[in-house]
Amino acid sequence: MRVVLVGPPGAGKGTQAARVAARYGLAHLSTGDLLREAIREETPLGRLAQGYLEAGELVPDEVVTDLVAERLSRPESERGFLLDGFPRTQAQAVALLDFLSRRGQRLDAVVLLSAGEEALVRRLAGRWTCPVCARVYHEASRPPRVAGRCDDDGAALVQRPDDAPETIRRRLAVYHGRTEPMLAEFRRRGLLHSVAAEGDIETTFARIVETLEKVRREA
Ligand code: AP5
Repeated sequence: MRVVLVGPPGAGKGTQAARVAARYGLAHLSTGDLLREAIREETPLGRLAQGYLEAGELVPDEVVTDLVAERLSRPESERGFLLDGFPRTQAQAVALLDFLSRRGQRLDAVVLLSAGEEALVRRLAGRWTCPVCARVYHEASRPPRVAGRCDDDGAALVQRPDDAPETIRRRLAVYHGRTEPMLAEFRRRGLLHSVAAEGDIETTFARIVETLEKVRREA
């Protein structure tokens, strides 16, 4: 299966993508995680991307599309993939569809996670991440066993710099201005499936699985 998970910041894309990829044996590709890894490792890509991430702006299309094309060309993506955070502009959507069509492949579904702005801000403001293994927690809905420490490796949890209140507002504006308009093309192609993501993590996961099972039955 080839699936895109899309939605505003804080909708739960990363949280759900990890579970869905595990459930269906898909390669999980998060452009946000790849960019943050490049920043941590101080690669040329990381140096280029850092300012954009910190400001809540999108990294230029051609940079991200090249990154994704390289990853999707790897053998592990052959068994199917789940894209998390890509595409998020019309140009990226066109690039993805062209890339797949050149390879004789098609996209099976675009799952849109939707939640109200109040819930999104609450989730982002309470998010804590392990700098070592990238595991994501929430101080209320998914707390670590020991406050401030990762369950897996004990590292001190950190908050993402782009989860500062003014940057959250900018990321939401960028989503409305640049990502939402992209959804029309997927809707026109009958690929877009909207899933309410206001509920708890398990409820949302069950809804996504229900949607993907329906897509598989109708394929
Ligand atoms: P990216 O990392 O993709 O960030 P985002 O889209 O803003 O999304 P988030 O990671 O903030 O949220 P999420 O939806 O994954 O939520 P999560 O599961 O963590 O991108 C970051 C930046 O990289 C961009 O701003 C841009 O600069 C750049 N970039 C990335 N892709 C790009 C592209 N394609 N083109 C150009 N630039 C790109 O959940 C959030 C919190 O809520 C967590 O604490 C979690 O535990 C909690 N939570 C999750 N679900 C629930 C639930 N159901 N109930 C209660 N709590 C929940």
